[in-house]
Amino acid sequence: MNDTSVAIGSEAHKRLFCRHFHATYQDYVPAELPWPALDEAALGRLRAVPFWQEVLHTERRAGAIVKAFSETVTDPELKQAIDLQGFEETRHADLIRVMIARYGIDASEQLLERLPDDIETAFKDFGFGECMDSFLGFGVFKIAREAGFLPDEMFSIFERLMYEETRHIVFFVNWMAWRLVQQGRGAAWRRGAASLRFYGRALKRMVGTARRGAKQNDGRDFAATQAGVFLDGFTFRRFLEDCYAENARRMSVMDEGLLRPVFLPRLADVALASLRLWSSRKRAEATAP
Ligand SMILES: [Fe+2]
Ligand SMILES: [Fe+2]
Repeated sequence: MNDTSVAIGSEAHKRLFCRHFHATYQDYVPAELPWPALDEAALGRLRAVPFWQEVLHTERRAGAIVKAFSETVTDPELKQAIDLQGFEETRHADLIRVMIARYGIDASEQLLERLPDDIETAFKDFGFGECMDSFLGFGVFKIAREAGFLPDEMFSIFERLMYEETRHIVFFVNWMAWRLVQQGRGAAWRRGAASLRFYGRALKRMVGTARRGAKQNDGRDFAATQAGVFLDGFTFRRFLEDCYAENARRMSVMDEGLLRPVFLPRLADVALASLRLWSSRKRAEATAP
């Protein structure tokens, strides 16, 4: 539920989330960003990150899906906003490409797989996937930045990308709710059921990607070498706390009248409450006579 006067699924709601998307657009050209010079140690850490090829592919595929979906959208206001998202996803791929070339990262462009025939479902799958990736990415980004994994200028560049992903997922959850209402499936329980189904599919894909990545990177021991910089003192609870807090912080700058992704923050909230309870019980047991 949102706390404003716009009814979810209404024309006013659509106008609000489309206009917000345009109003928060940031203009930049990836090649013209202030890319810092890196010393050998930082360069080594950047090059050892095992997922740049996957990130480049994901962003290129994102651009293709969003553009293909926008071609099927007839509402001019929506189409314009989705076109802008497509442009931003393609620019993300450009940004990664610029970084790969500039710092001599070993990653190549893979052939894009054929897009699914049901492009609206592909857009939904992509949107829920983004919600999941962003929630976890917010935490990873904070931990890596605080640990000084790379110079801060590098994180400032990627901050643009994180901000855009925040806008994308806010736009997406509002579009999704609007769309369900338009289709007569806007009841809260139906929206919840749809989220659950799509998050389940996103999780399955994420596990598949992780497995593929682990296979491809067999032999490159990233975790034991380069990631040690920020894995010191890493615990699952701290990671979840960072994801949760960063999500709340990033969402707080979005228009109050818009829906936000709630599924993962709620899940994390429950998990954190259980972890806290568990550790306070443990402490109590340890101090009991
Ligand atoms: Fe992106
Ligand atoms: Fe995105």
